[in-house]
Amino acid sequence: MMKILITGATSGIGHELAKIYKQGNHEVIALGRNQEALKNLENIGIETRQVDLSNLEATREIFKAIEAKHGHIDLAILNAGNCEYIDCKDFDAQLIKRVFDANVITLANSIEGVLPLLRKSRQPHLAGVASMAAYLPLSRAEAYGASKVAANYLLEALAIDLIDENITVSIINPGFVKTPLTDKNDFPMPFVLEAHEAAKIIVRGIAAKKIEIHFPLRLTIPMKLLSLFPRKLWRKIGQKFKK
Ligand SMILES: NC(=O)c1ccc[n+]([C@@H]2O[C@H](COP(=O)([O-])OP(=O)(O)OC[C@H]3O[C@@H](n4cnc5c(N)ncnc54)[C@H](OP(=O)(O)O)[C@@H]3O)[C@@H](O)[C@H]2O)c1
Repeated sequence: MMKILITGATSGIGHELAKIYKQGNHEVIALGRNQEALKNLENIGIETRQVDLSNLEATREIFKAIEAKHGHIDLAILNAGNCEYIDCKDFDAQLIKRVFDANVITLANSIEGVLPLLRKSRQPHLAGVASMAAYLPLSRAEAYGASKVAANYLLEALAIDLIDENITVSIINPGFVKTPLTDKNDFPMPFVLEAHEAAKIIVRGIAAKKIEIHFPLRLTIPMKLLSLFPRKLWRKIGQKFKK
């Protein structure tokens, strides 16, 4: 039985992950802000903590309380995040800040909070959820894509620095998954997966200690290949994906 901490567990991918690990008899600690969704998780035996992870002081307090109760964490899945698209006709720098707060600052604050607890585990594993959007620049994703590039870099650099401490770091780069985050999208999403399917792929990837968990392969592999082509070519192809 592992002690598993999941951020962004009140909805979408994180919610499905929390349920799967709970069914597997692991001890799950679920973090989020939505009080009602947290209550529903408690009703199925999952411990919850309400916190806005973009607030460093509040995050520090929550992790201190978790440390006092649990001592250590074996697996941390840092999944909290949000997506907003830019309208370049009315470029909004505050939108960029909001998206970076949701995707990069929550990640950094969670890492600061959870690392001391992971260090007390015998087999510590940290997994961060970024996105396939990090592979290539996509129309209107100036904020979201850039934040997920930052998340990938942060996690990759951290992986190098934590090797000596035997802390495994996995980066999760999903394609489109049906969740409240993507329900707002007004464009066709190729090869979209249900949140439960996505969560099962993530659970398998984590169990195999994969460095990068990316899916669906029919979307992520072509994206990876295209990212190797000259940027000039992508600027032409990228036009076709304008939202
Ligand atoms: N869905 C996709 O197609 C897709 C694709 C690639 C990557 N991703 C990434 O996967 C992760 C999960 O996304 P999802 O699709 O499952 O979205 P979702 O259903 O909207 O869930 C997002 C979760 O993040 C939490 N969260 C956001 N900001 C927070 C904050 N400041 N403090 C605490 N919790 C916060 C939300 O909790 P509260 O509402 O309770 O605050 C919610 O539980 C995100 O990082 C997203 O970028 C999603």
